[in-house]
Amino acid sequence: MSPTQETAGPSAPALAFPAGFVWGTATASYQIEGAVAEDGRTPSIWDVFSHTPGRVAGGDTGDVADDHYHRYREDVAIMRELGVGSYRFSVAWPRITPQVGPSALGPVNEAGVDFYSRLVDELLAAGITPAATLYHWDLPQALEDAGGWTDRATAERFAEYAEVVASRLGDRIGTFITLNEPWCSAYLGYASGVHAPGRTEPASALAAVHHLNLAHGLATAAVRRAAPQARVALTLNLAWVRPASGSEADAAAARRVDGLQNRVFLDPTTRGSYPADVLEDTASVTDWSFVQDGDLELVHQPVDALGLNYYSPTLVRAWDGTSPRDESDGHGDGAASAWPACEDVEFPRQPGPYTDMGWSIDPRGLHQLLVRLARELPEVDLYVTENGAACPDVVSEDGAVHDDDRIAYLQQHLAAVHQAIEDGARVRGYYLWSLLDNFEWAYGYSKRFGIVHVDYATQRRTVKDSGRWYAGVVARGGLDASQP
Ligand code: FCB
Repeated sequence: MSPTQETAGPSAPALAFPAGFVWGTATASYQIEGAVAEDGRTPSIWDVFSHTPGRVAGGDTGDVADDHYHRYREDVAIMRELGVGSYRFSVAWPRITPQVGPSALGPVNEAGVDFYSRLVDELLAAGITPAATLYHWDLPQALEDAGGWTDRATAERFAEYAEVVASRLGDRIGTFITLNEPWCSAYLGYASGVHAPGRTEPASALAAVHHLNLAHGLATAAVRRAAPQARVALTLNLAWVRPASGSEADAAAARRVDGLQNRVFLDPTTRGSYPADVLEDTASVTDWSFVQDGDLELVHQPVDALGLNYYSPTLVRAWDGTSPRDESDGHGDGAASAWPACEDVEFPRQPGPYTDMGWSIDPRGLHQLLVRLARELPEVDLYVTENGAACPDVVSEDGAVHDDDRIAYLQQHLAAVHQAIEDGARVRGYYLWSLLDNFEWAYGYSKRFGIVHVDYATQRRTVKDSGRWYAGVVARGGLDASQP
């Protein structure tokens, strides 16, 4: 079924989204680009991590990935064919200033800037609005060697890099997202170690939290200097945290996790302070002396928009130590070791159904988080900057990918977004993760999130049924009741 056939119906969709709602897709540099040693790019923490035996499933690396660096024109053409209105991609820092070190940014690599410049021109020519994430986890390895996000110099260099990107591309990019999911960078990178750089130091994870917040604040100011007309946003993977029971102990566990995943990022950036309970909860791990005088004013920069990434809910239970700690939640982020000062919290298995990641499917969390953000930050535009599902896709004999499971997931989650808008949330857009199957971090190529299938042996792209379905949603501006 072609998008045009599917959009032919004259009637308005049952769930119509507001006029001007942005329908997008999202990717990230290391997950799709490949070409890791081309045009002056130097290694990022993910190059080093993925090349370390045992770190990534199947020994997979991003060396080639989707070869998007060479095939970006084809990928933009697919988005144009699907009618996608906006594309959220990320800029690889090691392409822009490959010689960066802790004390100096180093020269700008024109070949690196040029790649993104060509990509942006290609998007604009296709009528697709670019939205650029400045940091989607590919930190230059040289900075990690000097301490990475535990070192405040990383935040300072990040702001300088952000200024370079905004000054070179800000004439054509209307939205810059400073960071993607700093929770993952800090806790998965420095506490549980399942992401690069693979460190398991709870105190370092909290230092990373602060320096990521600082990086966001400094970069926001830098982008505003270099591209005053651009909108600046921050993307967080906020958790819809639910206690396993009505007990006081479970409620306390839920409050702790809400503090460490949600409020430790939201409060400093939107209110200029760290939550007192988080400082107290983590006092045995760190004294937070890495927060210097004046930092919180720097972090507290009003954002034009907030991006929410949502996949799955979070269920927590107090653990009293009498039985083995339950860490069976399929939502990898829930791995207890990711949480500093949460030794007495467990993350039990959640009810199904599950995606191929083992993540519990529950669109209520998306609705709840959007409504919460709208209540707490009524003046801020909200975007769902990622949402999607990994499914065990196969190319059928007819050459198509029949991913009804993904369509059902997307339908339910878009309905939740629609409900949040009905309930008053200022949700301005939705970016489906992901345009393409890609390198899914520690899972390598074993998990497929794309609405476009990628055959990694041939780099052949095949639009899945979900891609055609999404094209229909975009063309109609909403969901039909008759859809699955
Ligand atoms: C998010 C990441 C994104 C992708 C999805 C599945 O946490 O931001 O890069 O891997 O999960």
